[in-house]
Amino acid sequence: MATFTLPKNSRIRKDGKTHKAQGAKRVKSFKIYRYDPDSGKNPNYDTFEIDLDECGPMVLDALFKIKNEVDPTLTFRRSCREGICGSCAMNLNGKNALACTTAIEDLKGEIRITPLPHMDVIKDLVPDFTHFYAQYASIRPWLQTVSPTPSGKERLQTPEQREQLDGLYECILCACCSTSCPSYWWNSDKFLGPAILLQAYRWLADSRDEMTGERLDALEDPFRLYRCHTIMNCANVCPKGLSPAKAIAETKKMMAERAI
Ligand code: SF4
Ligand code: SF4
Ligand code: FES
Repeated sequence: MATFTLPKNSRIRKDGKTHKAQGAKRVKSFKIYRYDPDSGKNPNYDTFEIDLDECGPMVLDALFKIKNEVDPTLTFRRSCREGICGSCAMNLNGKNALACTTAIEDLKGEIRITPLPHMDVIKDLVPDFTHFYAQYASIRPWLQTVSPTPSGKERLQTPEQREQLDGLYECILCACCSTSCPSYWWNSDKFLGPAILLQAYRWLADSRDEMTGERLDALEDPFRLYRCHTIMNCANVCPKGLSPAKAIAETKKMMAERAI
């Protein structure tokens, strides 16, 4: 029989701290997942009250304020602060999103922040991307050709061929989609998941790539591609407005067409 309790070392402790915002008029509470593997303790939530009149507008601004002024041990990833690097992906009130492009005022009530779901946690809000990046490397995410470069220079595309990459090249590999995908939660050892499959299709759709057959061969497997059951969580959470489900459907179409 299936059991749905967390393993002992993942159960949340109830002894989290609360940091009050003294004298503030506009207060917002942030309940943040804390986990420090060096402590030997289970994870817990700490609550931080923030004075919104003294804080920038985005969730990432609040995390910086907490780290700089209240608890320097709070650990999270970020780089660009512009929705470009994908490193500040986390779960905000139950939905995966980028902390730097999510406005505090768009999240109602206390804001609960946890790491991306179903990934191992390194510390606090930092998930372990080792497996995700290994899956990315497995699809050979670069232009592969066998013919010599025409005129020894560039491989050109028509505007129409270039357009085929729209909706694909914008992916920032934040993993919001993959970690929202139930099929990926249960089969991430074998299923590539929406982010990596969108990236795989990005090269299948590229008119300059000459390894289409080999790329399709590598995906032709009951798990790597076909574990997608079109649940659509991936398209609903993508912070760049992309649809991995559509890319997966296009890949399945290519598979079907070459089988005819
Ligand atoms: S559409 Fe496919 S890849 Fe996207 S969330 Fe659903 S099962 Fe996962
Ligand atoms: S498809 Fe969207 S959600 Fe998925 S990794 Fe790319 S940018 Fe992130
Ligand atoms: S910090 Fe780069 S996407 Fe948020």
